[in-house]
Amino acid sequence: MGFSAWELWHALQKKSNQIILKLLLSALLVGLSFRLFFFPTTPSSSTPFLAIPNAAEDSTVLESGTEQCDLFSGEWIPNPAGPAYSTTSCPFIEDPQNCLKNGRPDTGYLYWRWKPHDCYLPPIDANKFLQAMGNKTLALIGDSILNNHARSLLCLLAKVELGEEVYHGDYFKSRTWHFPSHNFTLSLIWSPFLVKADIFEDENGVSKSEIQLYLDTLNSKWTSAYPTFDYVVISAGQWFPKTAVYWENNTVIGCHYCSRKNLTEIGFPIAYGKVLQKVFSFVANSSHKPLILYRTWTPEHFENGEWWNGGSCKRTRPYRKGEYDGKDIDRMMYRVELEEFERARANGSEDSRHLRLLDTYPLSLLRPDGHSGPYRQFRPFDKDKNAMVRNDCLHWCLPGPVDTWNDILSEIVTNH
Ligand SMILES: *[C@@H]1O[C@H](CO)[C@@H](O)[C@H](O)[C@H]1NC(C)=O
Ligand SMILES: *[C@@H]1O[C@H](CO)[C@@H](O)[C@H](O)[C@H]1NC(C)=O
Ligand SMILES: *[C@@H]1O[C@H](CO)[C@@H](O)[C@H](O)[C@H]1NC(C)=O
Ligand SMILES: *[C@@H]1O[C@H](CO)[C@@H](O)[C@H](O)[C@H]1NC(C)=O
Ligand SMILES: *[C@@H]1O[C@H](CO)[C@@H](O)[C@H](O)[C@H]1NC(C)=O
Ligand SMILES: *[C@@H]1O[C@H](CO)[C@@H](O)[C@H](O)[C@H]1NC(C)=O
Repeated sequence: MGFSAWELWHALQKKSNQIILKLLLSALLVGLSFRLFFFPTTPSSSTPFLAIPNAAEDSTVLESGTEQCDLFSGEWIPNPAGPAYSTTSCPFIEDPQNCLKNGRPDTGYLYWRWKPHDCYLPPIDANKFLQAMGNKTLALIGDSILNNHARSLLCLLAKVELGEEVYHGDYFKSRTWHFPSHNFTLSLIWSPFLVKADIFEDENGVSKSEIQLYLDTLNSKWTSAYPTFDYVVISAGQWFPKTAVYWENNTVIGCHYCSRKNLTEIGFPIAYGKVLQKVFSFVANSSHKPLILYRTWTPEHFENGEWWNGGSCKRTRPYRKGEYDGKDIDRMMYRVELEEFERARANGSEDSRHLRLLDTYPLSLLRPDGHSGPYRQFRPFDKDKNAMVRNDCLHWCLPGPVDTWNDILSEIVTNH
């Protein structure tokens, strides 16, 4: 999903081989949006497994210990109990993330849990979470990874209450679910750039023209609803490597990869930094003070290529701490986030109570085994064992590592 843009950027810097560059650019335009296709549902053949709550082995470790504990620093340890829900018990899993139903043969990736170094991270307690969220609204603002995140939360809460969809828009990319017995509202807002953007992609994700990105104008879709939010998770970044023309103060200031040669090339990390400054200054300046969690970069784990040229993610277990350090783009985008976050925090002292990082990057980086890979499609190898299948090494299987993001979210929110 646009990561090829990063390679292209390097190519552009070198100004080498213009023909190849043009070919690549057109390939990029055609494939710009990594559409996840939906497949007709057929009865699930995956074995449902029992979910056993797993607090036993280290329950000796402080229940209230998370107060001083860095939840984001830790390691993945084996978890024989397995995930908190099954693909058959949760009606909210979309087909491209329903890896077991789609025939993923290995299940080892389901048997890990995140162990912060200094405390025990309890699995989300759906009752406790829903009670804490009574009469409240949680908004998830960003790209398709936020959809992945929302679906995981819906699944984790499903054994207590099913969210009812009460709104959808933007080709179903924005949705609102309501939990009537708790009067809890979960709002998913599609805004992949967080700022105003003219996107010319058709329903199949084919781009007909360059994206026009207004770096100094936040997307009113989320800012206008902002006063109704009690809790907010914001995240973006994945769309920034795309070809785009950048605007500021109603003037074109440059572009990233565009074909018009008279425009200045501006690196997408710079554009991302500018957008984050806008977001954080909006948060600081707003009189409404929900709890804002900026969720850090989601790494993809393509190996031996990108999504468009045979890249795959075949690993079946997490990396150990220190075993993998990410790609250049991961480190760079994460650094932009940390720098802008620190800058915003330094600017306003009262921010710290309202603005925090949901720093899921380090723990997600260690999970190359958690993506859908070829199993974004239904039984991709049934007809041909060696079929060429396009992989998704960006979005995450459900159940899967994203469930941990919600365990952490729940810890933060219920202790807030
Ligand atoms: C929600 O608000 C109603 C009244 O507006 C109140 O009666 C009820 O106790 C509240 N519920 C929670 C869980 O806070
Ligand atoms: C539900 O919560 C909203 C605030 O999110 C509040 O305005 C409304 O009165 C609540 N409804 C009930 C029935 O408590
Ligand atoms: C924005 O553009 C207008 C003219 O179009 C100019 O007067 C103004 O100074 C510019 N503002 C900034 C912040 O650059
Ligand atoms: C760049 O060239 C196009 C025509 O190719 C023109 O419409 C545009 O105004 C030019 N932009 C700048 C900043 O010179
Ligand atoms: C710093 O804070 C002031 C007022 O709180 C705000 O106007 C300004 O935009 C902030 N700057 C940044 C970079 O967040
Ligand atoms: C802050 O808010 C005030 C009014 O609420 C507005 O006039 C001003 O432009 C805002 N500043 C920034 C940096 O958003």
